[in-house]
Amino acid sequence: MNILLFGRDGQVGTALSQLLPSLGTVVALGRDGADFTQPQRLTEHIAATRPDVIVNAAAYTAVDRAESDVATAEAVNATAVAALAEGAAALGALLVHYSTDYVFPGEGQAPYAETDATGPLSVYGRTKLMGEAAIAASGAQHVILRTSWVHAPGARNFVTRMLELAAEREELKVVDDQIGAPTSARLIAETTGEIIARHAAGRPIATGVYHLAAAGETSWAGLARHVIATAAARGAPLKARADTVHPVPSSAWPTPARRPLNSRLATQKLREALGIALPHWTDDVAHTVAAMVPEGGQ
Ligand SMILES: NC(=O)c1ccc[n+]([C@@H]2O[C@H](COP(=O)([O-])OP(=O)(O)OC[C@H]3O[C@@H](n4cnc5c(N)ncnc54)[C@H](OP(=O)(O)O)[C@@H]3O)[C@@H](O)[C@H]2O)c1
Repeated sequence: MNILLFGRDGQVGTALSQLLPSLGTVVALGRDGADFTQPQRLTEHIAATRPDVIVNAAAYTAVDRAESDVATAEAVNATAVAALAEGAAALGALLVHYSTDYVFPGEGQAPYAETDATGPLSVYGRTKLMGEAAIAASGAQHVILRTSWVHAPGARNFVTRMLELAAEREELKVVDDQIGAPTSARLIAETTGEIIARHAAGRPIATGVYHLAAAGETSWAGLARHVIATAAARGAPLKARADTVHPVPSSAWPTPARRPLNSRLATQKLREALGIALPHWTDDVAHTVAAMVPEGGQ
């Protein structure tokens, strides 16, 4: 099976680069080989590779910067994705793509199902939703995995940032009124692997949107506390402690982009389609922390 991976160097792309070779022949492209602001080049890559599966982990993910860089966010998250989808449709290839909890407005307390009405609050969310719509309109066989609060060892994300800050400061103020589930790039890659393996075995899951997030829920402050407690238990020399993480409301931390307060995603559709259980976010995060803090600390 030929697999064409875009976004090789991001959090999810890195995890996929490690996992996908066990499933087939992989061509993995980063920004240097496939610039998403030039969709024509993407079409050429697809024509040259003739993949059975296209996996797109590239995205404009700078949520705040997107507010003032709308054209680039739209080009990468929507126009380029439309080109990938058209290429997949023309070849009869499966397209696996990733989207976000930020397509929702974040009202209420209930986890969002795939069928719930969207209503993005930000340019990032709006452009990701445009990408989803372009895929649906293309007629390509596809799986769109909406995920949330992605973390991976060594990458720029909230978990690694909290470890840095906790080493520098005794007290941290962290937002506690946005609720969601941190989800590892490793879990996203493994789930993608399951989807591709089933496709290859002639037992594909139905085309469409699926929610993928670790089990349970927390706030950013709760996540910070868990990261610090886990790293401290492994012997990391931190100045901050779990109980010196002070909760603040989103309003105390103004950002260019508005973020949903309710980022909960209901994952039943995906779990039933694949026959899998998803790990609790605490275990998933502990795995990422363990990869960065060797036992005995440092
Ligand atoms: N991060 C999250 O918390 C989160 C939450 C929900 C959903 N998601 C979704 O999950 C997917 C993977 O996200 P991630 O966390 O792995 O993101 P990431 O680490 O930011 O990786 C995104 C990749 O896209 C590449 N990229 C950006 N602009 C590009 C362009 N013009 N041409 C080619 N490549 C370009 C980046 O390249 P450079 O490395 O060169 O910048 C980067 O390698 C995305 O679809 C994202 O929307 C992420």
